[in-house]
Amino acid sequence: MTKREILVTSALPYANGPIHLGHMLEHIQSDIWVRAMRMAGHRVHFVCADDAHGSAIMLRAEKEGITPEALIDGVWKAHSADLRDFGVAYDHYSSTHTHANRELTARIWLALKANGHTESRPVKQFYDPVKAMFLPDRYIKGECPKCHSKDQYGDGCEVCGTAYTPADLINPYSVVSGATPELKESTHFFVKLADFETMLKAWLVARRDAGGLQPEVVNKLQEWFADGLRSWDVSRDAPYFGFEIPGEPGKYFYVWVDAPVGYLAAFKELCDSGRNGLKPADLERFIAVDSNTEMIHFIGKDIIYFHTLFWPAMLHGSGLRTPTAVNVHGFLTVNGAKMSKSRGTFIEARTYLNHLDADYLRYFFATQLGPTLADVDLDMKAFEERVNSHLVGKWVNIASRCAGFVHKFFDGKLAASLPATETANYADAAKRLSACAALYEARDYAAAMRLIVEVADTANAYIAEHAPWTMAKDESKRDALHVVCTLALNYFRLLAIWLAPVVPATAARAFAFLGEEIAHFDAAAQPRLDAAINEFSALATRIDTKKIDAMIEASKENLQPSAAPAATAAPETTKPEAATISIDDFARLDLRIGTVLECGFVAGSDKLLRFLLDAGELGQRQIFSGIRAAYQEPEKLVGRKVVFIANLAPRKMRFGVSEGMILSAGTGGGDLHLLDADAGAKAGMPVK
Ligand code: 2FM
Ligand code: ZN
Repeated sequence: MTKREILVTSALPYANGPIHLGHMLEHIQSDIWVRAMRMAGHRVHFVCADDAHGSAIMLRAEKEGITPEALIDGVWKAHSADLRDFGVAYDHYSSTHTHANRELTARIWLALKANGHTESRPVKQFYDPVKAMFLPDRYIKGECPKCHSKDQYGDGCEVCGTAYTPADLINPYSVVSGATPELKESTHFFVKLADFETMLKAWLVARRDAGGLQPEVVNKLQEWFADGLRSWDVSRDAPYFGFEIPGEPGKYFYVWVDAPVGYLAAFKELCDSGRNGLKPADLERFIAVDSNTEMIHFIGKDIIYFHTLFWPAMLHGSGLRTPTAVNVHGFLTVNGAKMSKSRGTFIEARTYLNHLDADYLRYFFATQLGPTLADVDLDMKAFEERVNSHLVGKWVNIASRCAGFVHKFFDGKLAASLPATETANYADAAKRLSACAALYEARDYAAAMRLIVEVADTANAYIAEHAPWTMAKDESKRDALHVVCTLALNYFRLLAIWLAPVVPATAARAFAFLGEEIAHFDAAAQPRLDAAINEFSALATRIDTKKIDAMIEASKENLQPSAAPAATAAPETTKPEAATISIDDFARLDLRIGTVLECGFVAGSDKLLRFLLDAGELGQRQIFSGIRAAYQEPEKLVGRKVVFIANLAPRKMRFGVSEGMILSAGTGGGDLHLLDADAGAKAGMPVK
């Protein structure tokens, strides 16, 4: 086998919100791949970072009354902890807001410029007259110029996948203020993508033929080429949180410029740290055009364009190597539908970890992940059933049924040798499972898991056939019992080796029980004999349905109303227009003024604030509101007059009953603003 050296990355999560299970699908997919490739003997460097720039982060920090640096620092800590606790073992988890990234972004930009691939010209760009700033692409919505879907973001259509600029949108509106944006002129900088058309076409085909791009991805891109490649607008005007373009005061790199460079910057920091056997000079060895190393990106299907057109063009145009592979996966659905806050299926990584073991989700995702762009469904029933039946029932139980006899009768030692039949049984199973190496490499984890389950079934059939619990009662069968337990535990060990990339923490406990450290698939070739094992303690327990229910319930807190009563959609999709209603519909809402008597954090919830309102003639009302991210000092709200819905059915929550809903304006998360009443409004007054 040729030993490969590979830099692997996952897409950089934005630093303006928590990591959720949709992100975890990708981090788990790439982590499994990295672990498997290492166990196959390759040298892999695995990096990621927070994507820390852009207007969203700037606006959120402003709202919270903190600096963007303070905001991204807090989010980085949370993201790092979430990933670590899911067993996603990046060699380095950085941020795009680093010195290394500033330098590398400038280097790539200046090289593109020196090579004649950039241009500047005045463009009319949307400006929010209410907020007094140029509007970032994601803060303008409107109709897609290509497929005419409504409410699409300014940088690309989520329905047909076309990337464009906000000026292309039909009927645009500002998501920040709802105002109709005005066009205002300003100089912008561009990368001339047309320069790379020939190069990109050849690159796509070559990568596809080498297995580095999925055919469906290449087909999609070829459709985009049909329209010709227009220059890419890579600058944004101040105010913007990002890197200023060298020599262009007041002009900043668009976040999508320095984000992919962040892959290399994170790797540079790893090289500089001296870890992984790397040294500072290794960066150049990796990024040289003729590098014999590989660079492999894992991404979701929503950001194909950035990674297979812009990114290779930037690299090639600045004289650097291009990616070896871009591995694209589909989206995550939960219970067959898009993740939904109201259904409690928009599950944050931390909420999952508060209730369930990381390896369970890793295993379930592995059973669902293939090499295609197909979406992956986290069906909660299937999740529970598969973890309980496969991981616990078919795998862990092998050890739990045999370990005791080894300690009771054989001094905790495995037999010194196995008879011919058992030796052949083991060799057969090892050979069958050796196919997993190629399946992992091809990202066909689902096929690898099916093979593992088949071999687990063989192992369990062997145990059932020999019934060690019956043999144990017959002293004359001690040697036979020793053989059965030794082969069974070797089946268990074999399965642990091949499951290790998927369930690393559980496999580590299995290896500790077996008294071995295993880092290589090669260890599977031979059974472990004549060796001591440790006492067995439960390596994994069955999932209790109640834990899944509690996780869903906790995820529903995220919904706790802040804006419109129909706030069942993701908060960032608030639309300024809605279907018309009659005056009678409106009259059904009992809107009232409430004076805040108490307001504070809720122990055990990172979303909610608890309000106690003086509601005048209605008495006092306790309301839980999901606006904690927007108000870091709740005690300062005491005395404020807020507007709330008084006739909303009370809702029983883990923390108490919520008796109404407080209204606020905004897009969700940190961007929420309580409504105020003018002087003279009294507690309990109706709002009409
Ligand atoms: O789509 C996203 O979530 C981006 N933050 C991904 C960036 S990946 C890379 F290019 F940095
Ligand atoms: Zn479209």
